[in-house]
Amino acid sequence: MSAIAAFWRSTIGKKVVMAVTGIIMVAFIIGHVAGNLQVFAGAERFNRYAAFLKGLGELLWLARLGLLVSVVLHFTAAYQLTMIARAARPADYAKRNPQVSTFASRSMRWGGVLLLVFLVFHLAQFTLGWVDSTTFSHTDAYNNVMIGFSNPIYVAFYELAMVALALHLFHGAWASVRTLGLSKPSQHPLHRRVATVIAMAVWLGFAIIPLGVLLGLAKPATEPTATAAAPSASPVTP
Ligand code: HEM
Repeated sequence: MSAIAAFWRSTIGKKVVMAVTGIIMVAFIIGHVAGNLQVFAGAERFNRYAAFLKGLGELLWLARLGLLVSVVLHFTAAYQLTMIARAARPADYAKRNPQVSTFASRSMRWGGVLLLVFLVFHLAQFTLGWVDSTTFSHTDAYNNVMIGFSNPIYVAFYELAMVALALHLFHGAWASVRTLGLSKPSQHPLHRRVATVIAMAVWLGFAIIPLGVLLGLAKPATEPTATAAAPSASPVTP
């Protein structure tokens, strides 16, 4: 136990925890964007996918627990590393002259906080049904998404959060493999093909959903969706 505590207390230990939990979250995000794009295939397909996930039962709860632990550890390590860096240099540089840093690397802290705020809102909206509570249904994820993204303010918030996510992934996907020593130091640290592909693909996949729904590009439900047939305002266990 003390070896684990010593590892967590060290700066490199926190960075390794950030890298591993980051990779776990990227794996979830890639699966999530692929699943969500089915919204363009219509209500039946999307709701079947949502029902399949719920049908996983204990496996789903295990994945949720893994994700929750990852988010908490990732955020705690980031916060503690920020505090350590601030304590080491209480006054900022008089003039910053970044050599290889990118806008993405400099946006990691505020972008991370924005993503955390986004995640809380997102779970309140689509998992708990607290945002559009009068129309929300635990059995009609498609309709929840249609209603959620008919509001341009929510769409704008999602689009902003997806830019933060792309920047976070562009830097994080690259930094995590470097922290774990899975890639060698490069002569061209700004050439990041894999990180660029991941960040662009995830951004594009997520960004077109709210905008596509707002613009009416998602396939409309051919028959009344579960919500339309039986509105459910009562909270049911997700
Ligand atoms: C346009 C973008 C997105 C859409 C349309 C979307 C859609 C959804 C929907 C419909 C659900 C509820 C599924 C259900 O309970 O039936 C959900 C859950 C969730 N989403 Fe998203 N999502 C988006 C982006 C994101 C992003 C960027 C993240 C992470 C940074 C994220 C993380 C989650 C998590 C953690 C859950 C809870 C999963 C669970 O309850 O098992 N989502 N999302």
